[in-house]
Amino acid sequence: MNRRSRVRAGAVALTVALLAAGCTGSGAGGGVRGTPGAAGVRDPLYPRLGNGGYDVSRYALTLSYDPATGRLDGRAEITAKATQDLSAFNLDLTGLTVRGATVDGAPAAVNRAGNELTLRPREDIDDGAEFRATVTYDGVPETVTDSDGSEEGWLRTADGALAVGQPAGSAAWFPGNHHPSDKAAYDITVTVPAGLKAVSNGVLTSERKTADGRTTSVWHAAEPMASYLATLAIGRFDTTTATALGTVPVLTAVDPVVAAETAALRARLPEILEWATENFGPYPFAATGAIVERDDDLGYALETQTRPVFSASSFDTSTLVHELAHQWYGDSVSPATWKDIWLNESFATYAEWLYAEDFEDTPAQKNFERAFANEAAWAFPPAEPPRAEDLFATPVYRRGAMVLHRIRQELGDDAFFEILAGWPAEHRHGTASTEDFTRYVESVAGRDLGKLWDVWLYGDEKPENPTD
Ligand code: ARG
Ligand code: ZN
Repeated sequence: MNRRSRVRAGAVALTVALLAAGCTGSGAGGGVRGTPGAAGVRDPLYPRLGNGGYDVSRYALTLSYDPATGRLDGRAEITAKATQDLSAFNLDLTGLTVRGATVDGAPAAVNRAGNELTLRPREDIDDGAEFRATVTYDGVPETVTDSDGSEEGWLRTADGALAVGQPAGSAAWFPGNHHPSDKAAYDITVTVPAGLKAVSNGVLTSERKTADGRTTSVWHAAEPMASYLATLAIGRFDTTTATALGTVPVLTAVDPVVAAETAALRARLPEILEWATENFGPYPFAATGAIVERDDDLGYALETQTRPVFSASSFDTSTLVHELAHQWYGDSVSPATWKDIWLNESFATYAEWLYAEDFEDTPAQKNFERAFANEAAWAFPPAEPPRAEDLFATPVYRRGAMVLHRIRQELGDDAFFEILAGWPAEHRHGTASTEDFTRYVESVAGRDLGKLWDVWLYGDEKPENPTD
């Protein structure tokens, strides 16, 4: 190495060291010594999901998609508040290429390591300060295969694409704090080729033609939303509109191929929502509806906020009841961690049991006994799914619903229905844990229910008989 290049190498090494130490620019704004936010929120099942050091209040996504090439062009504007003095912070992003980033209008340094994107602003951000980060990115978004084998993230469909994100797939189409503990409002603006539609969460605030003949739609989801509940369906859709509960706009979008076979049930959405509010309390959102895709496009249904997504064959009465019930349990009250997912699935399953009790002459007791006899329901305690691949296993749904039925048996119908509506009222638009739930139920009961929790919620063994 000659002298000249040695000097250059030394300068590079110094710059790298300064960058690593977080020194570039820090303190320039007045002596704050921030540290980097954590790369995950230590979720017991998904430790790398989410990020520490800030709270997002709003995502504004501006996207355009071309189904012919599969390419997505995106710009994410993230409004957040620092919860520590920050020298840098992370966003979760799976795949895609980042073209640039700013923080409060100034270019930010970008580093990428796998699914972690690190933004280092020129100046540290003070604890408590609100800031705005923008990320421009593009690429062909990935389909994520979960450890249980199901597909999420960005799915290409026969005529477009579908984004679904439980538990981690939303990072495949926008950078963010992708853990349910950080909920935010969303504004999603999407441009698609002529003849196609883009359907997302919340209220459609505008739909207009661009100069080159494409269509831009703007969706506004005002109430806090966990990122796993964000959705985007692009393709040819037949849409129907109606009004539910007197004031709530209903928008259903369905692949034209399955429009006829799903029409009758789509028309019943308002009456099912009416029944749901009688049992679960006021509907938590400003809009409702459904998106129905072909079976080849998606193999399951998901409770995406305000507008659940279905495959055609999953679009039946009990699944519609299930996904609408999730709007209270899961969407308005979201799990504090992924371990708490039984709080979503138990209530949504119990809603199916209640619906069958009210309209199909099947008492919930009958479904409870069926679930009790189902050996698959006893693989693990619902409050303690051992692995990520167990998130959607039978114990979470069936044994979770059995826990609720045991509460009903123990406390009687009056207290049980008080809990059904009281729990989502207590944590409306927030997040809650299993411990929050057991404490809440005991407060309604006015007594300790430790034995019930030990046996039904946390116990490893199947009880001898269903009244234990
Ligand atoms: N939460 C969905 C339901 O309503 C199921 C989602 C399944 N997703 C998955 N990645 N396995 O039951
Ligand atoms: Zn569910």
